[in-house]
Amino acid sequence: SVLIIDFGSQVTQLIARRVRETGVFCEIVPFQKAEEGLERLKPKALILSGSPASALDENAPLVPDAILKSGLPTFAICFGQQALCHQLGGTVEAGHHGEFGRSQLRVEKPSEIFSNFWSVGSEHQVWMSHGDRVTALPEGFEVLAVSDNAPFAFIADEARKIYGVQFHPEVVHTPDGAKLLANFVHNVAGLKSDWSMAAYRAEMVQKIRDQVGDKKVICALSGGVDSSVAALLIHEAVGEQLTCILVDHGLMRKNEAAEVVAMFREHYNLHLIHVDAVDKFVGELEGVADPETKRKIIGRLFIETFEEEAAKLGGADFLGQGTLYPDVIESVSFSGGPSVTIKSHHNVGGLPERMNMQLVEPLRELFKDEVRTLGRELGLPDSFIGRHPFPGPGLAIRLPGGVTREKLDILREADAIYLDEIRKAGLYDVIWQAFAVLLPVQTVGVMGDGRTYEFVCALRAVTSVDGMTADFYQYDMNFLGKAATRIINEVRGINRVVYDVTSKPPGTIEWE
Ligand code: XMP
Repeated sequence: SVLIIDFGSQVTQLIARRVRETGVFCEIVPFQKAEEGLERLKPKALILSGSPASALDENAPLVPDAILKSGLPTFAICFGQQALCHQLGGTVEAGHHGEFGRSQLRVEKPSEIFSNFWSVGSEHQVWMSHGDRVTALPEGFEVLAVSDNAPFAFIADEARKIYGVQFHPEVVHTPDGAKLLANFVHNVAGLKSDWSMAAYRAEMVQKIRDQVGDKKVICALSGGVDSSVAALLIHEAVGEQLTCILVDHGLMRKNEAAEVVAMFREHYNLHLIHVDAVDKFVGELEGVADPETKRKIIGRLFIETFEEEAAKLGGADFLGQGTLYPDVIESVSFSGGPSVTIKSHHNVGGLPERMNMQLVEPLRELFKDEVRTLGRELGLPDSFIGRHPFPGPGLAIRLPGGVTREKLDILREADAIYLDEIRKAGLYDVIWQAFAVLLPVQTVGVMGDGRTYEFVCALRAVTSVDGMTADFYQYDMNFLGKAATRIINEVRGINRVVYDVTSKPPGTIEWE
């Protein structure tokens, strides 16, 4: 495996993606925990990430001693390169000619890491983002490639198998970056591609069996991809010992709960309890307008309902969860203070402590797209795996101004028509997330010969990579016109449709 030492770069996770794409397992550890990571993982190669810090700062992170002494093949990126040079006896200076963005790299020497795909004299586009730069090399190092502003853009000590680059090979703007990292992993470090989803599945099934033994496991199934894949994997491992609980809060999309229940019971023969808690949830939410209050009510009721059902089963020793790798990576923070809570996310956090259960988290090492691959491996249909994200509090946070049963029904119909049109236009997979919002505003309209006074429906569609930032989707106006006409004609209670053209930031994706 490969150990990635994180110095706090925004794109460290991309390094891990690139390494895993080569078929080699890797993990990220914050630089403070490098030694522990070395002992636990016993990696065959190391990659040092970039950082927002400057290697010249007095309290800049240092490359841990254990790393310097490990003797392992090492690939150091940007800050990693500078810190390494600095500590090995080279010189780093604050650059008056920092480089940000595209840059041309010119190869000056052949190297094992180029393995015949970059030849001497050839030029390649790379992505730079640095203020400081290396100005004198430590002993044993030589220059492999240069750029206009970085005479030490690509350096190496081939004997010790240490490589350093000033650019970022992990980003897509360095077109050959993935190939360079693959060459490092395969040719330099000699690692074989043995990380595959089929192998992971088998390995995890065995691990779950070892952990759970003959004890009972329960899972909360939401119908989302993560909880579904986790449940299927646990089911494959321990079969009848697993019971899944779907808390139906009446805030799901049209037909969603029924479809999820049918799929898991019929295709997978999985023991699934469908709890109809619609009255309880909608009853308590009735008339509640404040977004955070809604979220808190839903979170509390969810836990209560889940606990009640679990008690009926006589409890369980383990709670299965679809926690993903990005949720467990410890991030390196330079800002110090706590970040502001924009929205309190609804999840099952807190349940295991309250119910005194141990966790089974078979997806803890995976990224979202890897979970999708695993889902396919487990036989989940593409239509299910490719579904847009859906928030835990469901339609309740798409009804500004107060939840009622009637409004939920109106919203559900409008949303279904909107998504149907998106699918028909072939846009579903291009858009990251799309949904309807029902506004608490009534406007005057005219239909037939009569006056109407009904609600406004807002449509939202965004493109995004991870939900952290998003752009509103630029529809063809004809599409919007068509969707609006259908919604107004087919849904009683809506007589006007508007489109949300806000990106994130400053807006959030959901309205509440
Ligand atoms: P925002 O609205 O914060 O949403 O831009 C970013 C992404 O997160 C989803 N979201 C949630 N997901 N529980 C979830 O599981 C929640 O409470 C929740 N709130 C928002 C949202 O749909 C979008 O994909």
